[in-house]
Amino acid sequence: MILIGAGGHSKVILDIADLLNIKFKSVFDNKFEQRELFNEISVISKINNSKSEKAIIGIGNNRVRYRFDKEYNNLEWATLIHPKAIISKDVVIGDGSVIMAGCIIQPGVRIGKHCIINTGACIDHDVEIGDFVHVAPNCSLAGGIKVLEGSFIGIGASVIPEVRIGSWSTIGAGSVVLSDVENETIVMGIPAKVKYGK
Ligand SMILES: CC(C)(COP(=O)(O)OP(=O)(O)OC[C@H]1O[C@@H](n2cnc3c(N)ncnc32)[C@H](O)[C@@H]1OP(=O)(O)O)[C@@H](O)C(=O)NCCC(=O)NCCS
Repeated sequence: MILIGAGGHSKVILDIADLLNIKFKSVFDNKFEQRELFNEISVISKINNSKSEKAIIGIGNNRVRYRFDKEYNNLEWATLIHPKAIISKDVVIGDGSVIMAGCIIQPGVRIGKHCIINTGACIDHDVEIGDFVHVAPNCSLAGGIKVLEGSFIGIGASVIPEVRIGSWSTIGAGSVVLSDVENETIVMGIPAKVKYGK
């Protein structure tokens, strides 16, 4: 398996992989070409996209994961779930997504591809999460929420039931979201108010 990205998020992915006995052959990172090793795994600066290999993107930035998914379309995306995450049987998790330690994911939840459900996040029943979403540590998403493609929910944010968060939006750290958020909008605070966007 190939790990894409040699930063902090990748470190956490390596830790999950270690617990699951998954070994990475190499780490791809075009920013750190001069580095030879990342956690004792060799760093490569090019991927052979013509070969179908298992891979996972260890990069927190949603737009970067989106770009790599399109660029490396021959790779076979792996899904990683920390053994100490609590996940209902009635949950669907898309290819390339990562579920971190301590998450609780309840029945009826649908999670798209290349998502990050970060440490200790609670996702309640029937939440729909689109592709390339990042739910940061300790967020709480109540029942029936929709989070559309590419959105980022900042650390410790809470969202009340049935709210719709538009695509490529950002919820500030610690916010409490009480109403729908439009696409490409940044909201923050308690209650969350629009800072940029509609
Ligand atoms: C919302 C966020 C993206 C805004 O970033 P930004 O556009 O660079 O904002 P700035 O730092 O320039 O702050 C702009 C103003 O918003 C306020 N602000 C920033 N984040 C805020 C938040 N989460 N809640 C309330 N107010 C916030 C700042 O105090 C500042 O107020 P001022 O204009 O009165 O001085 C960022 O602050 C944030 O919360 N990021 C989440 C990071 C995170 O959770 N990472 C987890 C990684 S796993």
